[in-house]
Amino acid sequence: MKKENTTISIEIPLSVPCFRGKEWEYVKDCLDSGWVSSAGKYLDRLEQNICSLTKAKHAVATSSGTAALHIALQLMGVEPEDEVIVPTLTFIAPINAVKYLQAHPVFMDCDDYYNIDIPKTIEFIRQETKYEKGMSINQRTKRRMRAIILVHVFGNAVDFHELESFCRERNIKIVEDATESLGTYYREGKYKGRHTGTIGDIGCFSFNGNKIVTAGGGGMIVTDNASDANKARYLIAQAKDDDIYYIHDEVGFNYRLSNIQAAVGVAQLECLPEAIRIKKENYEYYQRAIQPMDGLQIAPVPSYADNNYWMYALQINSKIYGHDRDEILKRFHQHQVRVRPVWHLNHLQKLYKKSQACHIENALKLVQVTLNLPCSVGLSREDIDYIIDVLK
Ligand SMILES: Cc1ncc(COP(=O)(O)O)c(C=O)c1O
Repeated sequence: MKKENTTISIEIPLSVPCFRGKEWEYVKDCLDSGWVSSAGKYLDRLEQNICSLTKAKHAVATSSGTAALHIALQLMGVEPEDEVIVPTLTFIAPINAVKYLQAHPVFMDCDDYYNIDIPKTIEFIRQETKYEKGMSINQRTKRRMRAIILVHVFGNAVDFHELESFCRERNIKIVEDATESLGTYYREGKYKGRHTGTIGDIGCFSFNGNKIVTAGGGGMIVTDNASDANKARYLIAQAKDDDIYYIHDEVGFNYRLSNIQAAVGVAQLECLPEAIRIKKENYEYYQRAIQPMDGLQIAPVPSYADNNYWMYALQINSKIYGHDRDEILKRFHQHQVRVRPVWHLNHLQKLYKKSQACHIENALKLVQVTLNLPCSVGLSREDIDYIIDVLK
């Protein structure tokens, strides 16, 4: 079973990049040409290629997915003391983006795909907010409910068609956090053929090192609204009104991506279909190996979408399997396999204990029984066999 030699123990990481395309060639081109900073052909190409992939009309590259979310929320009109509905089960970045604007998160439960629970969210808006003068007001706090962030967790598409029409009636803007779901399309239903991140009012992607496409770091805003795209370009470049005299009438940010990063991103994006193919095959390989093991399963993915299989989730029934999440985590780490529990739920973080949280039940349960397994594109069959051996 062992995956080490006597001097070096070889670790299997959770999710690391794989550079098998033209990354070196494109980065060298940037260095040779001197176009290394906040403008250049790779930035243009990355934005165009994201538009072709997602069919969004406009794409604006940013320095990170978090920066993209910050700007997206600002474009949606989120102001201090507004409220934004967010899932409790997600990486904390979208919640931080709400706080950057001095707004307040309201936490929602998740469904069995780890995504925000849509029926509960609709119920919450219906029961707890009142539509007055074109705004949805939270009856408990008297604050305006300005937006909702939908995170496509682990690459799983959120099915939100009922919520979409309801939010439009209630003037609640939809921000899609598609940072984990690049390459995930809806397969059936109202959104058939659409890419995640392109259905709400605005969408955000991330090119962080652990994502399916990395630029070393970076993000992207997608929108069909030309004025939102222009405003995003303005805000991420220090809100410069005048190129010669440097007049700034608003607070801006230095949130631009560099051409070097974009060069890596362009090369990675060319490999996306191959990355998804490998990730899907590895998901199915894990699934076949784990299926016969009592008390364990690989979390299913939604049948209504073609998934990017970004992150795999092992679900543990500790009564049947005989060991709980933390015991398995410890055993994996002893064997140099990097697994990770799902993020600590956001409504339980010290910062947000006093925030409103709406009947969180399923998220508490799923966190207790889930471990994310290694999912890098470079993962070999030998690695997976070793991981399965540890579980056995
Ligand atoms: C759901 C989610 N939102 C936002 C982000 C933030 O992206 P970035 O790291 O590019 O800022 C990440 C991951 O990093 C994420 O997983």
